[in-house]
Amino acid sequence: MSNERRLGRLTSLLRRRGIILPSYEIYGGVSGLIDYGPVGARIKRRVIDVWIDHWTSVGNVVEVDSPTITPEPVLVASGHVDEFNDHMSECGACGAVFRSDHLLEGLNPNPNSLEASDLDDKIADSAITCPSCGGFEWKGASPMNLMFPTRIGAKRGGRMAYMRPETAQGMFMLYPALFRHFRQRLPFGAIQTGKAYRNEISPRQGMIRLREFNMAELEYFIDPDELPNPDLGRWDSSVSLLPDPEGPHAGEHSMTFGEALGSGIVKHPTVAWFLALTWDFLVDVGVDPERIRFRQHASTEMAHYASDCWDCELNGEHGWVEAVGIANRTCHDLLSHQEHSGSKLLRGWRQFDSPRTETMEVLTPNGAVIGPTFKGDASAVADALSELTDVPDSLPFILTLADGTNVEVTEEMVTRRVEKVTVHGEYFTPHVIEPAFGIDRIIWHILDHSYSETEKEGKGYTILSLKQDVAPFDVVILPLFDKDGMGELARQISSRVSSMPGIHGDLDVSRSIGRRYARADEIGVPWAITVDHASLEDGTVTVRRRDDQTQVRAEVESLLSHLSSGTIGELF
Ligand code: ATP
Ligand code: GLY
Repeated sequence: MSNERRLGRLTSLLRRRGIILPSYEIYGGVSGLIDYGPVGARIKRRVIDVWIDHWTSVGNVVEVDSPTITPEPVLVASGHVDEFNDHMSECGACGAVFRSDHLLEGLNPNPNSLEASDLDDKIADSAITCPSCGGFEWKGASPMNLMFPTRIGAKRGGRMAYMRPETAQGMFMLYPALFRHFRQRLPFGAIQTGKAYRNEISPRQGMIRLREFNMAELEYFIDPDELPNPDLGRWDSSVSLLPDPEGPHAGEHSMTFGEALGSGIVKHPTVAWFLALTWDFLVDVGVDPERIRFRQHASTEMAHYASDCWDCELNGEHGWVEAVGIANRTCHDLLSHQEHSGSKLLRGWRQFDSPRTETMEVLTPNGAVIGPTFKGDASAVADALSELTDVPDSLPFILTLADGTNVEVTEEMVTRRVEKVTVHGEYFTPHVIEPAFGIDRIIWHILDHSYSETEKEGKGYTILSLKQDVAPFDVVILPLFDKDGMGELARQISSRVSSMPGIHGDLDVSRSIGRRYARADEIGVPWAITVDHASLEDGTVTVRRRDDQTQVRAEVESLLSHLSSGTIGELF
């Protein structure tokens, strides 16, 4: 079957079976927005649940949940207001707008890294025509910020804000709470799943480029001076790695994650560990391991906040597509939020092995002046002075207190001294390693990799071989006929299945048994239980395995106990 035909058939199956559908279709639809229907929403929920379990099982990782509406200053500090842009090229003839780098796909190894003038030159040199009208008259490429602006509050009292373009900023805002939660000890991480919004210039390829999409991110806060030594030995298969094409390891490599770290292809041990954990998650949810690769960004391609970034790309009907970005964000965000907000709470504390005696310049508060000047805040000023690590050369200067307020400190308020002090540790700004997952792109590839069409009785027969953990239902319960007590027994079994924690059953009573098996196979239900006349007499049912369609007879009690313990396969 041609790729185009397969893609068309898969897309129509997803729509027909209530998995993925275009949003607002009765009003003509909106590109870049999709719905997960009754079956798709169950698949999405389960993929997200597996993702959450996967990362919380690391141990020092907790889940948080922040608003999707983000006040402007947060995104000014993060760099998104200035830097979160894509270049767009407008057709001078018909006015259609396209992402400039997409016009050059296949013609340039990395068009995403080009500046506006290079994009214009290459579009002209390659005689790119407008995909809408076929014209040649391009207006110069110009940057467009991808965030959706909004306002919090009414009229003039309203504050400028944006719909979040990533969940990550919520975790940075919660850093002080996380630091307290983990009793001031790094490393630790926070995960968050939820919607992110990007006003993509030219959404296309169905679920791949959406304007509102589902992200799942981990921000893992580390002390940059303490490199961990993760045990990568348990990952013994080789994976495909494409390091920076401009760097010393350019080319495609097949090696284990341990070898990649050992050879310096992956520089940071935590990045290597997260590449491996990302691999595990993807394989666990049913992505074909042969169609996973890791590609490192060239320095010109990197997001404004990253010092190193590896994309995990998946191959499917749309070619190689980035599904996860694993970035070393260094201290970019926490430091910038410290500078913009004045908060002192975005730091880590590094305890020395043994206390050190250091000679330090200090400013000791002059109580006779500070007391009357600052009144109730005097002790906060004294505390802030005692915490100063960089004493300014000249006075007056602006001192930031622990609550973020600024006060002016003048000559007469302090005495400058050189003192020997015992120092037990030091503050530093933690670094962040971030795996950012696009849940929709992952679900697309799970569906793509598990979709197969065979022939049955001269007709095409579709099976979605989803792993049980991400299937919309674990089991479908089918009375052969909804009469003579068969429907009733099926309902009893169904209600017992529903009461099993973590197991989801579906009862299907309509149309012929063959149609119902086919429907269950098409949406990827791994097991079917059929209640027939014999069931009423001897308490046995037929259990059918989706992947090879074999059937066995089993007693209801034994079947239910295997189902609840995850060992139903042992019946075969
Ligand atoms: P691309 O280069 O394809 O635009 P990106 O580099 O902007 O992607 P990131 O900013 O790294 O993507 O976002 C993290 C993850 O979020 C991506 O790996 C992807 O899975 C997902 N993602 C990003 N943009 C979209 C989108 N418009 N629609 C669906 N998923 C997206
Ligand atoms: N938080 C990663 C990203 O938005 O790309």
